[in-house]
Amino acid sequence: MKVKRREFLRNAMMVSAGVVAARAGAFAQTPSATDSRIEIILAEEIATINPDIYGHFAEHLGGVVYDGIWVGEKSRVPNIGGIRTALVDALKRIRPPVIRWPGGCFADSYDWRDGTGPRGRRPRRTNFWADAPEWPKNAPNGPWKYDTNHFGTNEFLRFCQLTGAQGYLAANLRGMTAQNFFEWIEYCNSPAGSTTLAELRANSETPSRESFKVQFWGVGNESWGCGGNFTPEEYSAEFRRFTAAAPRYGVNLKYIASGANGEDLNWTRGFFARTAEKGSGLFNQIYGWGLHHYAWNLSLGKTTNWFAGKRDAVKFDEPEYYELLREGDRMEELIERHWTVMGEYDRQHRVKLAVDEWGAWYSPGSEVHPTHLLGQQSTMRDALLAALTLDIFQRHADKVAMGNVAQLINCLHALFLAYEDKFLLTPTFHVFEMFTPHMGAKAVRTVFSAPQVQYNRNNQQAHFWGLGGSASINDKMLTVTVTNPHLEEPREAEIVVRGARINSARARVLSTSEPNAHNTFDNPRAVEPRDETATVNAGTMLFRFPPASVTRLQLALV
Ligand code: AHR
Repeated sequence: MKVKRREFLRNAMMVSAGVVAARAGAFAQTPSATDSRIEIILAEEIATINPDIYGHFAEHLGGVVYDGIWVGEKSRVPNIGGIRTALVDALKRIRPPVIRWPGGCFADSYDWRDGTGPRGRRPRRTNFWADAPEWPKNAPNGPWKYDTNHFGTNEFLRFCQLTGAQGYLAANLRGMTAQNFFEWIEYCNSPAGSTTLAELRANSETPSRESFKVQFWGVGNESWGCGGNFTPEEYSAEFRRFTAAAPRYGVNLKYIASGANGEDLNWTRGFFARTAEKGSGLFNQIYGWGLHHYAWNLSLGKTTNWFAGKRDAVKFDEPEYYELLREGDRMEELIERHWTVMGEYDRQHRVKLAVDEWGAWYSPGSEVHPTHLLGQQSTMRDALLAALTLDIFQRHADKVAMGNVAQLINCLHALFLAYEDKFLLTPTFHVFEMFTPHMGAKAVRTVFSAPQVQYNRNNQQAHFWGLGGSASINDKMLTVTVTNPHLEEPREAEIVVRGARINSARARVLSTSEPNAHNTFDNPRAVEPRDETATVNAGTMLFRFPPASVTRLQLALV
């Protein structure tokens, strides 16, 4: 029985409700010959995978903070000191390494002092996003437009502590001084009782007498745009001024500079050239060079307009499905090209890439509540995008030190959707959970050989790779993650490990009958991964990857 996946096109245009996932067995019944091969070359190590590439991003934007994370202590929604319990519990399952906050563009409008002291006395401020054209018409006023500052530094870092994540604080370069930045570091990191700001920290609500020991500090956000419209040369000067001196309090401060938007190599070149001119020793002070890349333009090349190029999150057809993956897949060349430019000036590659915003960005309309600006549904297609992106980071584990999917909850490529007491895990959450064995493991080279996907793009034949992924080794356990992007065809692959034999194998598969399948509050478990049997024969194995699927194989080696 062949599943008529093209039917999703017609169905998708008619309904946007949750779709029930099919059992993998539907595909397992279709006989097919081995058509693909995955080779894992153990001797070719890339680097240890920094767990921080599995990082998150939470901005004061729409429903991310107010409603998503922060429900308040008096809420009927179960909470831990005001923080949504269900979110904390779910996050623990994926061991979040780092969470970036408070923005995004919001960061360059934020005064961290507003979020300190007793909550009742904190000022209400106009949010950066208050006038965004994307707001649904019926969006009421509330803290998402006029921020109550009830969620400030202590509340955020408490959230991090509850989930086991490190905080990554993005400082305001556009509107605040280097002194204000310096004092935020002092507020977070000066030892208990040592300074007036340490006292403020201890006497704020959600108090912390002890230092937070925050390591990651972003110096501005998108400084080429909302963060100040700087030139890269101007930004280099600003960055140097902000980071020239700061008290360390025994904490290894890791500065992340505001890097490029997509393929803007001029931004990278301008910053690195000007910084090198001043002294290449300055590269020792930069931990990460940011990179932002969203998969948003699904117009099949018809426009580059930021609004006109976007499409719906749930109602999409075959070309739009592949276009999203193609747009996301550009991440690989972006990493390689920026890395090359960085290396022209920082020859030892002291500075690594921090892809501190990535994900799918659709047109408004599928948000679960009108207060969720830039909120969108997240389907199986987004799970594929997440998997192929994480695989890219892993294949470039020597270059990428951090990744932060945008955003954590109720916004863009979210892992969670919530409204009041309703809460769900998106398919992207499941990808993050499936990929956890890669964290801290050694990435090794892989070679994927599979028939390419052919599809019609504006009446021209277009193609996309047929099978992709990455592998990492931890002791004798090899984890291989594999994406089959083909909408209709399974891929049957022979899996060969160069340098070892496979002793036993386990498989976990995320696939659905329709690529726009997604979880809803009424049907929150429509899309979930399942375990499958994987049989090993004489040290190698065959595996059948269902159409539009993400698979994790765990291979015990001898
Ligand atoms: O993630 C939404 C926005 O996208 C961020 O605020 C900004 O940095 C980027 O343009």
